[in-house]
Amino acid sequence: MADQSTAYITTPIYYVNDKPHIGHVYTTTICDVWARFMRFAGKDVFFLTGTDEHGIKVEKSAKERGISPQALADENAAEFQRVLGDFDLTNDDFIRTTADYHHRQVQEFVRKLLESEAVYLGDFEGWYDEGQEEYYTETKARELDYTSPVSGRPLVIAKEKNYYFRLSAYQDRMEKLFEEQPDFVRPEARRNEVLGRLREGLADVPMSRTNFTWGIPMPNDPEHVIYVWIEALMNYATALGLGEIGGERYSQRAQYWPATFHVIGKEILWFHAVIWPAVLMTLELPLPKCIYAHSFWISEGQKMSKSLGNFIDLAAIDRYIAAYGLDSCRYFLTTQGPLGATDADFSANHFHDIYSTDLVNTVGNCASRVTAMINKYYGGAVPSESTADNRLRIADHDWPEIARRTVGQVGAAMDRFDLAGAVATALGLIRKVDGFINRTEPFKLAKDEPKSAELGAILYQCLEAVRIASLLLWPVMPRKMAELWQALGLQIDPDDGGLNELAAWGGIQPGITVIKVALFPRMEQPELTTGANA
Ligand code: MSP
Repeated sequence: MADQSTAYITTPIYYVNDKPHIGHVYTTTICDVWARFMRFAGKDVFFLTGTDEHGIKVEKSAKERGISPQALADENAAEFQRVLGDFDLTNDDFIRTTADYHHRQVQEFVRKLLESEAVYLGDFEGWYDEGQEEYYTETKARELDYTSPVSGRPLVIAKEKNYYFRLSAYQDRMEKLFEEQPDFVRPEARRNEVLGRLREGLADVPMSRTNFTWGIPMPNDPEHVIYVWIEALMNYATALGLGEIGGERYSQRAQYWPATFHVIGKEILWFHAVIWPAVLMTLELPLPKCIYAHSFWISEGQKMSKSLGNFIDLAAIDRYIAAYGLDSCRYFLTTQGPLGATDADFSANHFHDIYSTDLVNTVGNCASRVTAMINKYYGGAVPSESTADNRLRIADHDWPEIARRTVGQVGAAMDRFDLAGAVATALGLIRKVDGFINRTEPFKLAKDEPKSAELGAILYQCLEAVRIASLLLWPVMPRKMAELWQALGLQIDPDDGGLNELAAWGGIQPGITVIKVALFPRMEQPELTTGANA
């Protein structure tokens, strides 16, 4: 099981009866940023995403199209993999819940649950959301006005004989978990919601269905199919082989358990924050460190909807990538997304503002300014920071200390999954370089005292700070930062770790040649629409 050097991050597994859209791309991208950073920081990371392929919805859609559910799942899982492949994601595996190894292990886990007496056969009647395959309590159903909060369709009364998971028996253990592990659910607002609902008391949850067949049968009673939510949650463990102790997957991957972060959208928090830990407790497996539930993207100020024409589907994302480049999109998603407790608005104007302010005017401009001056005053050869025996301390900037602190702060923010905070800190380093240039005015110095020790030191320090910022920004903008490294003559493979050593002050050797870079072209705001058919 996990020690300090491993890390495990997961996305939800996505339903194959939906087409990939901004929500899927968002969650997977932010996990990718974290995974990249942690690998660079020297951790042995396992990053998992995949597709959730069973359930009544897939069965129904397949029937409508006259194909088998497996054929539908194959088609859409391939589409998800293709699409996610366009976003430079570095997931270590892509799990599909129709895989044999998942099937076998889920049955094994359920066998254990049956032995533990956490599962019993009982009668059930309740308000059911057919789209979400989720039951609601009377109170919750009333609150929702008996309509699905997701599809808007009416809830139905469903009746069945089901196997139940005895969630009610976990009340005390759940409360204790939330008390002892205050960071178990993040952000805080989401934790409070779960706590509130927890205090209303836990009810048992159905664990099987008999009204359809597209799923994994209960091992003891094949008439029943295992409830898709219980089965889907288990993907996080079956991907690592935890249901087949000693098996090949297990020997290669068990060390990654438990997850550092299960990153999810807020709508599926209850399953992850309450049901999943109770299942894990029964299976006697260690619990994840944190369930991080982000909020939702809305679009141009309104909830995304196909009928409003503001839905950010793949075609829309592709238009942004074509106009601004993939890394700019990754940057926008990471820094402006709904990472916290409130929803975030995807708007064309906001996108353009962020592109211009942060990427053109800050990152791009600073890198270009510094490399241009080194070219102009030193023919591209990096000057030295030191006079013969004394490093200059110019304009009260203790650069090695500033850089060291920045690197520490970015790492601490990443540890908390505060990706926007981490990026803002890295960008702050670039802004300090800009401020430093404005105060020390190397362009004037170059006129008065060409090639003075002071001028050389200033430019060295600027370049060094830009280099360190670029290491910190790489997880978000891997292509652009690699482009910058190439211009600086640096060969870096972040997958090999070494961030701390590389980020130590003084990494650039004086005398090497740097090329002037232009990373982000300034541009007029393009006409971009969000809707699919726009
Ligand atoms: N299959 C389940 C999850 C099972 S996990 C064991 C499921 N799938 S889903 O295809 O509906 O994907 C849901 C996830 O997509 C959300 O949790 C979130 O990560 C992402 N998003 C979907 N719409 C979103 C937005 N509008 N904004 C941000 N992310 C959202 O639920």
